[in-house]
Amino acid sequence: MKKVFVKTYGCQMNVYDSERMISAMEPSGYVETKSKEEADLILLNTCHIREKAAEKIYSELGRLKFLKEDNPDLKIGVAGCVAQAEGEEIMIRQPAVDLVVGPQSYHRLPSMVKTVTNGKRALDTEFPEENKFDHLPKDLKRRNNPTAFLTVQEGCDKFCAFCVVPYTRGVEVSRSPEKIIEEARSLVDRGVVEITLLGQNVNAYSNKHSGENYTLSKLIWKLSDISNLQRIRFTTSHPNDMSQDLIDAHRDCEKLMPYLHLPVQSGSDHVLKKMNRKHTADDYRRIIDKLRKARPDLLLSGDFIVGFPGETDEDFLDTLRLIKDIEYGQSYSFKYSSRPGTPAANREEISEIVKKERLAELQTLLKEQQVRLQKKMIGREVNVLFEKPGRLAGQMVGKSEYLHAVHVTGDRIRSGDINKVRIITSETNSLSGRIE
Ligand code: SAH
Ligand code: SF4
Ligand code: F3S
Repeated sequence: MKKVFVKTYGCQMNVYDSERMISAMEPSGYVETKSKEEADLILLNTCHIREKAAEKIYSELGRLKFLKEDNPDLKIGVAGCVAQAEGEEIMIRQPAVDLVVGPQSYHRLPSMVKTVTNGKRALDTEFPEENKFDHLPKDLKRRNNPTAFLTVQEGCDKFCAFCVVPYTRGVEVSRSPEKIIEEARSLVDRGVVEITLLGQNVNAYSNKHSGENYTLSKLIWKLSDISNLQRIRFTTSHPNDMSQDLIDAHRDCEKLMPYLHLPVQSGSDHVLKKMNRKHTADDYRRIIDKLRKARPDLLLSGDFIVGFPGETDEDFLDTLRLIKDIEYGQSYSFKYSSRPGTPAANREEISEIVKKERLAELQTLLKEQQVRLQKKMIGREVNVLFEKPGRLAGQMVGKSEYLHAVHVTGDRIRSGDINKVRIITSETNSLSGRIE
């Protein structure tokens, strides 16, 4: 038995891919290990979204190379978006790297590992004709978690001016509904009760199957027929693909949870245009209105970029205004990071000090909103899907339908249970309650 250690960076799709890479290696006699020191193969599944994310990989590689001194047979591989973006460069910059594999070629990992165990190096950053999902083992890893990710769509055709994803993940491809339903059933058979459908633009999902066009909402409805599947979520969506049928699903489909991550990036039309987002701030407001009419308790989350080239003080105020209008329960915000090869890469950057100040102001506002919406949960009854023990003895932690982490003390709670919980207190990033 050989051992593989995988470290995952970046988005949820990488989490999903890492699991698939481990299961792809199983037929070659590899099992997963949580210890780098005992590994025969180390894979870094990487993210290229911001400069810091990419640089982290090189510092980690710089540390890992020393493990080869104790274990000369150790092989080190780089997978994911940095692999796709930088390819051979990685091997040049860090000679300890044996293998580089892009996100669309990792079904070829077993044969690449064979090559490297024979003492050669291996590189594959193609976008192969064949679909990786058709060439990965069907048997998924045994689960000990009641929640799972399921990739339904990959790639992006939107080309926002700041973003590397269309280059690292390629064009939008939607998997066949038949295969998705089969994978979902298999997850549910292994004890999964909540599935999060993943895609870089998940709501652009579209696949013709047996003469019918499957949209994301249709897929959600089909999945909701799986009786032991209790909860469905999806991420990440683009405002321009938020179609009426999907909004209606938020109103009508009981298994679809009232939480939506809908990044807007900026509240200024001027910046949105420069970002090539192809919608205005008011378009976004209108979509949120429709969603809230359909599902009044919907909890929204968003992504924001501050300091995009050309962003003025007035533009930034527009972003703060939009945030105040919408009220987010959760959010992710970043300083603009120039990425090689993207349309915005050569534009004049605004100063780091301004970026820093704007980020701090934005995050203060977003934090206030998060705290306010969390506090509003006090006294309410929510349904918590319990996942694992909490930090304190006898405590279990799970997620409400709004994706709030909820701590409850109780001996009889098992992972996978869904219980009604009365919320009592709100802490920094979680809630606590009791089962009545
Ligand atoms: N497909 C998703 C996720 C893209 S990456 C979407 O369209 O929303 C996740 C987030 O990273 C983005 O929403 C954006 O806010 C941020 N991001 C992407 N490129 C960035 C860059 N160059 N600098 C700073 N933040 C960036
Ligand atoms: Fe990147 Fe824009 Fe595509 Fe999202 S929609 S992955 S931000 S290019
Ligand atoms: Fe990062 Fe690639 Fe995901 S760049 S955010 S790992 S799609």
